[in-house]
Amino acid sequence: MFAKQLPDEPADQAAFTRRFDDFYSQFAGAYAWAVKYLPVWKTWLRTTLPHIEGERVLEVSFGTGYLLSQYGARHHCIGLDYNARMVATAGTHLQEDGLKVPLVQGDVAHLPFPDASFDCLVNTMAFSGYPDGAAAMGELRRVLRDDGRLVMLDIAYPKRKRPFGVGIVNLWKLSGDLPRDMPALFERTGFEFSDEEIGGFGSVHLYLARKRG
Ligand SMILES: C[S@@+](CC[C@H](N)C(=O)[O-])C[C@H]1O[C@@H](n2cnc3c(N)ncnc32)[C@H](O)[C@@H]1O
Repeated sequence: MFAKQLPDEPADQAAFTRRFDDFYSQFAGAYAWAVKYLPVWKTWLRTTLPHIEGERVLEVSFGTGYLLSQYGARHHCIGLDYNARMVATAGTHLQEDGLKVPLVQGDVAHLPFPDASFDCLVNTMAFSGYPDGAAAMGELRRVLRDDGRLVMLDIAYPKRKRPFGVGIVNLWKLSGDLPRDMPALFERTGFEFSDEEIGGFGSVHLYLARKRG
């Protein structure tokens, strides 16, 4: 029941992306409600805040924009998300908070920014929902300057045997997410990184990665 098994990348990436996008379009309101009122989600997201650094910051897959509302005033920020309703929802939230952060609709696999545009990238609870981990990680690396930092939060199997944590990751997997071997992916793509389990019985990981020049 608690077996750890990493799924393959989907053969039909467009269908994978469409399925998640339909889900977010349908449940953007419920998702915004959950982020606002479920304290554990915000607690996890907030662990990234002390690590966001530099002037130019891009948040990829900002969802409802909760994190941007927390650090947006302190940096020169841009946000990108695939889902049109999430872009609209986050735009409303940021406006209510008096923050002017440009938000664009786009795909992590084709980021519309020149090489080395950012000092820091933020990406939370989204990477396991991308259909092509290598393409996404390659794009994140491309738009980051040398020695720039990627702050990432995502689900992944616990490093030590923690049955509840493994069970939680398996539940995410049932919903279609793709937990990956992130250390191998960081290594292959050219990042130094640390990996800290910050919640969910070891199933929620904070990765602090630095782009090797
Ligand atoms: C689980 S939500 C996480 C939102 C937010 N970062 C948080 O932690 O609450 C995943 C987000 O990833 C976005 N997303 C999914 N596929 C994407 C893609 N290919 N490119 C960019 N964003 C994508 C979704 O639209 C959604 O807003």
